Amino acid sequence: MKRCDIVEMFNEKDMVKVCAPMVRYSKLPFRMLVREYDTDVCFTPMIMSDSFVQSEKARDNEFKTCEDDRPLIVQFAANNVEDFLKAAELVAPYADGVDLNCGCPQRWAMKEGYGSSLLKKPELIRDIVLRTRNTLPSPFSVSVKIRILDDLSETLSLCQSLEAAGVSFLTVHARTPLQRRQPPNYEALQLLCSSLNIPVVANGDLHSLQIAQDIASDTGCKGVMTARGILENPALYAGFATTPVECVQRWFSLCLSLGSSFSCFHRHLSLMTGSSSVGVGNVNPGIIKNPMDRRFLNCLTTYPAVIDFFSREDIFGKEFLPLFQP
Ligand SMILES: Cc1cc2nc3c(=O)[nH]c(=O)nc-3n(C[C@H](O)[C@H](O)[C@H](O)COP(=O)(O)O)c2cc1C
Repeated sequence: MKRCDIVEMFNEKDMVKVCAPMVRYSKLPFRMLVREYDTDVCFTPMIMSDSFVQSEKARDNEFKTCEDDRPLIVQFAANNVEDFLKAAELVAPYADGVDLNCGCPQRWAMKEGYGSSLLKKPELIRDIVLRTRNTLPSPFSVSVKIRILDDLSETLSLCQSLEAAGVSFLTVHARTPLQRRQPPNYEALQLLCSSLNIPVVANGDLHSLQIAQDIASDTGCKGVMTARGILENPALYAGFATTPVECVQRWFSLCLSLGSSFSCFHRHLSLMTGSSSVGVGNVNPGIIKNPMDRRFLNCLTTYPAVIDFFSREDIFGKEFLPLFQP
């Protein structure tokens, strides 16, 4: 397997378009879907490195990929060097890089020393990066996804220490661990971008290609990452304002050919048609406008029932069928 050189990609492209790590969502069929719509790099959902290292069952459950699922970065939650390093070694033959989650603000993660609680232990993050970088030969990216700290100079010195340790790039969700729906702090992002020599990927509220391009030119970031935006419109990076019909058709086909639980297939379908949302309210206008239709779709429990629903004349019409590519 030939590895993609993620660092080289940042040199070659004006703006690298990234699909975010998303627990329960950024799994293989969804990654393959967004790749068809101009996504350059995909992240897996966050995987717990300790159980991944210890259990074959966890590995089978948490990590599925295929030859065309590239470039791929596997994101791990870790609270020590050994777990992250061993997990990275296990996935290295099948991926182009690994990423350390230093952004998850959930209470359970903070309590166990994962996610954004790591931001209080900059030496540990640095050691994880340093050991992994020194063990796994390039091209293989070792990256970190962070949130910003209340103290911007502290954030900058963390980033600079990671740069010195050899981190390949950083993703910055431009909110602090305590912030939820406050507007992202793009000024802080701009300062980080202008002070670092490694690529920075901007994250937070980039809900359209135009917004992503504007933020890239305002901040000088080398890449953009979207989570909720791309869930609600997997064709976002290709410039579509809402999910096109053929994208929904491709979603059916990819789930059928690559394998997906019905609940995962259905969850995504609700999001990409505007029938449900992650968090508070939809960020993009949905393609199914009638609230009754949205509720009806959300209650369906089988693939044939869903195909019947979309084939209705007032939805997509009789020609709606899963779209298999030659
Ligand atoms: C459903 C969902 C699952 C997420 N899972 C992860 C994850 O596994 N790892 C991670 O670093 N961030 C995770 N996040 C956070 C996103 O990657 C991203 O940082 C955040 O949603 C802000 O970006 P957005 O405004 O584009 O949604 C998740 C977000 C959502 C909505």
